[in-house]
Amino acid sequence: MPRSSHTNRSHSSTLLGTSSFSARDSSRVKQNMWDLDAVLPLDYAIPPHHLELAPHEVHTNFCNLLSRDVYSEGDARSLYDYIQSRSDEMSPEFLAMLDLWLADELKHYEALRRTYHCIAGVDFADMNRHFAARVHEIEPIEMVLTDEFTILVTMMFDEIGSVYSYRRDLWEYYRHFGTAIQKIGHHLIRDEGMHFNNAAELLLAKYPHRLCEVPELLERISVLEKSLKKYHKTFFLDHTQEQYRFPPHFNSVLIRFILARLGLGIQPDRSELQELWQWVPNGYHLVPIFAL
Ligand SMILES: [Fe+2]
Ligand SMILES: [Fe+2]
Repeated sequence: MPRSSHTNRSHSSTLLGTSSFSARDSSRVKQNMWDLDAVLPLDYAIPPHHLELAPHEVHTNFCNLLSRDVYSEGDARSLYDYIQSRSDEMSPEFLAMLDLWLADELKHYEALRRTYHCIAGVDFADMNRHFAARVHEIEPIEMVLTDEFTILVTMMFDEIGSVYSYRRDLWEYYRHFGTAIQKIGHHLIRDEGMHFNNAAELLLAKYPHRLCEVPELLERISVLEKSLKKYHKTFFLDHTQEQYRFPPHFNSVLIRFILARLGLGIQPDRSELQELWQWVPNGYHLVPIFAL
């Protein structure tokens, strides 16, 4: 976690853990390499004492949380296919990065399917049926898909939101269910941080002439997210479905974090970033999770 205000780009990068992972394809785009089967085998069962010791509210909330998060990760395929349908507008570097990104997101989908199966006892076949019935609507988020530049900025916004969202989830839920489930939470955070950094590196390398557009675009993305009545199952802006879990200034702090990563501002201080995942509404000891 950040320790002080800072505008240095490599500082943010190190904080998100990119320095400790192997490079793939180019020095700019990096991937956190980990083997899901080694961390959480398909037939893994949670040791019974973890299920017995976890507070009832934690277990119930985690089941509800996973019932959404599992499928949001899988929605990456729909977004990828849409971008591929416009691949003649995109650069080879971006498309190469997107291939690594999709592989990670589909690994997250499978990791969360296994977690959901272990925690809630839901069958894989039921999950397949549920996912196949989803309708992915691009139209409500068309604005963020204008071109490669707007997609990269939106990716930064979405991925850093996921970093802090999973950080909260790890603290509130994953850590209660044993080492394997806890490791999944840690890998999710690292991967989403890597996706954030990869998008930043491509923006800095390919769009220095358009960085002046980033502050206003981020504000428009935030307004769009808040105006959506629901999550449209297109991966981007999936936090629409759980904004109540985060403090009211969540997006504004993230926007300042993004601008600092791009060398356009001062990074929020440590306490502001901690509050993004430690904040709890008045009257609660655990942020409530509502079943949809
Ligand atoms: Fe993910
Ligand atoms: Fe991601």
